[in-house]
Amino acid sequence: MVRSALVASQLIAAAAAVRPFVNEPDTGLQDFLFSTNYTEGTLPPLRDMRGLPDFDYAARQVLDGQMYSFYRTAAAGEWSYRNNLEIWEKVKFRPHQLAGHEGLNETMGVSILGYNFSAPFFISPATRAAYGDPERAEINFVDAAAEADILYVSALYASKSIEEIGEAKRAHNNTLNGPQVTFQQIYSNANLSVTWDAIARAEAQNAKAIVWTIDAPGSSTRHRAARYDTTNANSVTSYLTWDLYEEMKNHTTLPIILKGITTVEDALTAVERGVPAIWLSNHGARQVDHSPSPLEIAYEIYRNAPQVFSQVEVLADSGVRYGSDVLKLLALGVKAVGLGRPFMYSNVYGLEGPQKVIEILKSEILQDAAQIGITDLSNIDPKRLNMRALESTVYLAEE
Ligand SMILES: Cc1cc2nc3c(=O)[nH]c(=O)nc-3n(C[C@H](O)[C@H](O)[C@H](O)COP(=O)(O)O)c2cc1C
Ligand SMILES: *[C@@H]1O[C@H](CO)[C@@H](O)[C@H](O)[C@H]1NC(C)=O
Ligand SMILES: *[C@@H]1O[C@H](CO)[C@@H](O)[C@H](O)[C@H]1NC(C)=O
Ligand SMILES: *[C@@H]1O[C@H](CO)[C@@H](O)[C@H](O)[C@H]1NC(C)=O
Ligand SMILES: *[C@@H]1O[C@H](CO)[C@@H](O)[C@H](O)[C@H]1NC(C)=O
Ligand SMILES: *[C@@H]1O[C@H](CO)[C@@H](O)[C@H](O)[C@H]1NC(C)=O
Ligand SMILES: *[C@@H]1O[C@H](CO)[C@@H](O)[C@H](O)[C@H]1NC(C)=O
Repeated sequence: MVRSALVASQLIAAAAAVRPFVNEPDTGLQDFLFSTNYTEGTLPPLRDMRGLPDFDYAARQVLDGQMYSFYRTAAAGEWSYRNNLEIWEKVKFRPHQLAGHEGLNETMGVSILGYNFSAPFFISPATRAAYGDPERAEINFVDAAAEADILYVSALYASKSIEEIGEAKRAHNNTLNGPQVTFQQIYSNANLSVTWDAIARAEAQNAKAIVWTIDAPGSSTRHRAARYDTTNANSVTSYLTWDLYEEMKNHTTLPIILKGITTVEDALTAVERGVPAIWLSNHGARQVDHSPSPLEIAYEIYRNAPQVFSQVEVLADSGVRYGSDVLKLLALGVKAVGLGRPFMYSNVYGLEGPQKVIEILKSEILQDAAQIGITDLSNIDPKRLNMRALESTVYLAEE
């Protein structure tokens, strides 16, 4: 009796301890703003943006419901969206003390397909940047990326055309690569001549790689956006097959990166087929609910086929918000990590928004790496991570 009462009370306590999901963990942003002359519904001062989640709050104050919900939306019950943000806490660091970190800052650079960048993160392709900045839209991303020497991957359905982005890019000739390097994301269209045309336009604007989004065979279920009758940017159904990949190679000399790999099997097939780079992603949880986060995908590959990380360049995105998130993916073997929403939200500040996102993330990566005893960002020992909590969910091929 006593025992079962105890168990019951423990269960109740455990249930009460489950914390509700918070879109932006409370680190005092609102308390602080309301202690100043800040008026809700207006854009908070940029100087008060101290972390990437702060930009979500800021964008929500000034974008109308339709626009904000388009950026924020995810598939169905948004369980994957929440998982993308919450999964990171499952992997704990094992900080290694007295390791020294002299020269750490010199190891932040990364090469992606032979191009040099100053940091292991980049701007993921996302449509409709004009919601944030009606005039400059994606041009802010082009400029901020060039100035900070990070990669920008422009979206096929960006507010600015491939040609306008190309023109903005030509203003930047003094990056680590000389002229600015960008990659172009595409969706394939059921009418393939539309697809070949998009690739030709990207080549004409000197994009250095094609990022083919393979996780969007058609519209997806998005309740939050549907309330405003907002449709997916990509609603053209096309048949996504490995044959189409082979055919696409005949239509471009550029490397084709596959964006949207979510399993070890598909990663291995990509390696077999000589794909130069794969991009682990659940599309910011916008395509199908209960799709895995990049941490889970990277861990599945790490456990089943760790050689993949040296056979092909591995990029990843979805749910990255902190320097420590970046470090966890790098430790598993990911080369560079993309961010979508934080950049889109930050664009409500114009150019200074994405600039600040980059500055914050660079500084968090360096500070956190030093705390953890990482001495070389390009070669992080996976032993810096305790991944036991992922163990119960990982798919193991031999089972
Ligand atoms: C508003 C918005 C539009 C997007 N549009 C595209 C797109 O056109 N093509 C694409 O491949 N991915 C698109 N994505 C997905 C991003 O490339 C990226 O995978 C995702 O945003 C990463 O998750 P995060 O937002 O949590 O960082 C979009 C994401 C957002 C938020
Ligand atoms: C609000 O306070 C900040 C300094 O905290 C000041 O720069 C700004 O001008 C003030 N704004 C208004 C509308 O009073
Ligand atoms: C790294 O830090 C050292 C010492 O603070 C500094 O001299 C050097 O310029 C920094 N290098 C980079 C790439 O920031
Ligand atoms: C940058 O270089 C390109 C090609 O070499 C040239 O067309 C363009 O005018 C240059 N831009 C600037 C701002 O110098
Ligand atoms: C990248 O950096 C390496 C080493 O500094 C250099 O050899 C290479 O030429 C650079 N690549 C480009 C595309 O600038
Ligand atoms: C396919 O797209 C091209 C434009 O690239 C257009 O000329 C053609 O009519 C389209 N074909 C069909 C069947 O819609
Ligand atoms: C690609 O081009 C090669 C050589 O031109 C040809 O043999 C092959 O059938 C083409 N493949 C596809 C899938 O179109």
